[in-house]
Amino acid sequence: MFNPIEMANADEADVAIRLNKVESYRKAFSQIYGGDGIVLTQVTDALAAFERHLERATRFDAFAGGTRRRLSDEEIWGLHLFRGKAGCANCHFGPLLTDEKLHNIGLTFFQRRLQDLGLFEAIGKTADVGHFRTPALRHLSATAPHMHNGVMPRLRNVIAFYEQGGGHIRPRNEADGKLPLFPLAAATSDLLGPLDLSKRERQALLAFLEAL
Ligand code: HEC
Repeated sequence: MFNPIEMANADEADVAIRLNKVESYRKAFSQIYGGDGIVLTQVTDALAAFERHLERATRFDAFAGGTRRRLSDEEIWGLHLFRGKAGCANCHFGPLLTDEKLHNIGLTFFQRRLQDLGLFEAIGKTADVGHFRTPALRHLSATAPHMHNGVMPRLRNVIAFYEQGGGHIRPRNEADGKLPLFPLAAATSDLLGPLDLSKRERQALLAFLEAL
C-alpha cells in the first residue's frame, strides 16, 4: 500500500484520508467496526479478511494430502513431467511451488517496448539484470495472463516458451548488441534448456498445470 512505484498513496495517513472521503466506505466500515471514521488498522484487517476468503484447497492440494484419486492419470503424468523431464520443479517446488528465488528466464524484452530489467531496476546491481522472483503457482488456473507483464495469455503459451529453453534475448541491431547490459540480459538461467516434449507429454503437463 505504501510503495510509491505501485501505489499513489503519500503515506500511511493518506490511505485513511482518501477512504474517508468516500461516503459508502465510511458507512460500510462503521457498520463492521463501529466508530466514526476509518482508521488504518481497520483497512488492513478488512484486506486480510478478503485475502483469507480467496484461499481454497485445490485438487492438487487434496492429492498431495493423500487423496490420490483427485488427480487423473494424465494429470499425475503431468506432475511427473513437471518434476522430471520438463525441469519445472528446479524452481517451482514446495507448498507454493516456488523457490522464492530470482532468476533470469529471458523476459527482459531488452531494448524493446516492454523492456523491464527486473531486480536490477530496483537495486542497480548489474548481476541482477533480468532477475524476477519465481512466482507461486497456487491457483494458477485462475491467474492468467502470465508472467510479470502478462505477455502469455494461456498456459499453453507458457509451455511453448519453456520448450524453447525460455526466452532468447537477441539484439535488434549491432549497437544494441554492444550495450554493456546486453550480455547480462542474454545470460539466462542454466536451469533452462530446450525440452523435447511429445504432443501427449505437452498435453499432460498442461492438464497438471490446470489442476493447480
Ligand atoms: C530457472 C527457474 C525456473 C524454471 C526451471 C521454471 N520456471 Fe516458471 N518461472 C520462473 C520465474 C523466475 C518466473 C517469473 C518470470 C517473470 O514473471 O518474468 C516464472 C513464471 C512461471 C509462470 C507464470 C506464473 C504467472 O501466473 O505469472 C508459470 C505458469 C511457470 N513459470 C511455469 C513453469 C513450468 C510449467 C516450468 C517447466 C516447464 C517452469 N515454470 C520452469 C522460474 C522458473
